[in-house]
Amino acid sequence: MDALTLISQEHSNMWRLATSIDQIAGDMQAGAPLETSFFEAALDYIDQFVDRMHHPKEDVHLFRLLRLRSEQAAEVLDALEADHRQGPDKLAQLRAQLAAAAQGHLPAAALAEALWRYTAGLKSHIKTEEQHVLPLARKVLQPQDWHEIDQAFGNHHDPVFGEQSKAEFRELFHRIVSLAPDSVGLGASSAGSLQAATAQPVLLKMQGLESCYGRIKALKGISLEVRRGETVALVGANGAGKTTFLRALSGVQPISAGSIHFDGEDITQLRSDKRMRRGICQSPEGRQVFGPLSIEDNLRLGAYTQPKHQVAGDMEKIFAMFPILKEKRALPAGTLSGGQQQMLAIGRALMGRPRMLLLDEPSMGLAPLLVEEVFNVIKTLKSQGMTILLVEQNAFAALAIADRGYVLETGAVTLTGTGESLIHNEQVRAAYLGN
Ligand SMILES: Nc1ncnc2c1ncn2[C@@H]1O[C@H](COP(=O)(O)OP(=O)(O)OP(=O)(O)O)[C@@H](O)[C@H]1O
Ligand SMILES: [Mg+2]
Repeated sequence: MDALTLISQEHSNMWRLATSIDQIAGDMQAGAPLETSFFEAALDYIDQFVDRMHHPKEDVHLFRLLRLRSEQAAEVLDALEADHRQGPDKLAQLRAQLAAAAQGHLPAAALAEALWRYTAGLKSHIKTEEQHVLPLARKVLQPQDWHEIDQAFGNHHDPVFGEQSKAEFRELFHRIVSLAPDSVGLGASSAGSLQAATAQPVLLKMQGLESCYGRIKALKGISLEVRRGETVALVGANGAGKTTFLRALSGVQPISAGSIHFDGEDITQLRSDKRMRRGICQSPEGRQVFGPLSIEDNLRLGAYTQPKHQVAGDMEKIFAMFPILKEKRALPAGTLSGGQQQMLAIGRALMGRPRMLLLDEPSMGLAPLLVEEVFNVIKTLKSQGMTILLVEQNAFAALAIADRGYVLETGAVTLTGTGESLIHNEQVRAAYLGN
């Protein structure tokens, strides 16, 4: 009966989400600004996960078998299935209302009402399943039924229900968590409990990392941590070891000591392409776009670990973020300016659907105005909940947008703290900020 545990877990995730939507809608009604990104991410989660996976799996397996085994089942299942069928329409309506509110065509109070109505429906649906359907299932379903249901809910090889898509939903859920305003958060155990950004789970944990070029030790035992949704800056002068560090993390630079854990998994020995599949995607130093290839083909290269069917859609998202790339999509990448090539390098990394984006000196060699543009892009990605490890010589700009920073000197971390505290640190100011 593993599926029952899964279903209940999924219910508690949905319940927490619904409670958070309620609270944020309440804040909005009391005058707080509209949290468009949060609501969009929450509706995406419901659309992609609840409406397209959780409900169909219930309909096709759990509910069908229950109807076979129990005559009383129809009474409760009819209403629940009708709810499932109406789910996508209700969600579309809510999206339209959200868009209208974002454009100022719908009062915040009306949007809040609509959101509350929706979450009330979702909660009562979950309650019915927990109070009536799951207990009935425990009573009447046979071992062979459970075999089918467990497989449907736990099948790791299925292209739709498989491990890969599960990882995506986890990401989506964490994105919602990091977009929820500080006052709400999405606690792990109780609905709506307070959760600061620092309480996010650790995504990357690196301990005692060493790496050498011949006899020269370029990294001398680096330990570093990045939490989900965090932007962490690694700053340091020329030759400090920043690039070596990122290359060691993406697996193209051998390490001689230390360990790397990503999302709880030890990836110290994992090949670089496998790390990329886990979601560690890098925009390399010096951009390294393929000059003779078209912009589109450069982007396609970033998606080589991804299923083909999602490439076109992902590329459109990149084009929406960088309209200039769309305009020039068929031209050789070599015809782009330095700033545009940097956008392309970031876009290419995004095509790998990163769960953690590594950026190696994205501002290098760019005119000040373009530097600002690149940092604006990074800020946007951060606001969408992306986890970012940003390596920069331009310490001020990097620390200004980072949650936390590490200062690297000749292969060792000498200082660490919040971005804010490092900017004001005298040592850092003297070494990097020119005063
Ligand atoms: N291929 C190499 N062979 C030998 N030594 C190298 C090699 N690449 C880097 N190093 C040395 O390793 C140390 C760290 O270099 P790395 O490129 O990682 O620094 P960085 O912080 O990225 O510098 P920059 O700001 O110039 O990009 C330096 O002393 C450098 O000379
Ligand atoms: Mg470098």
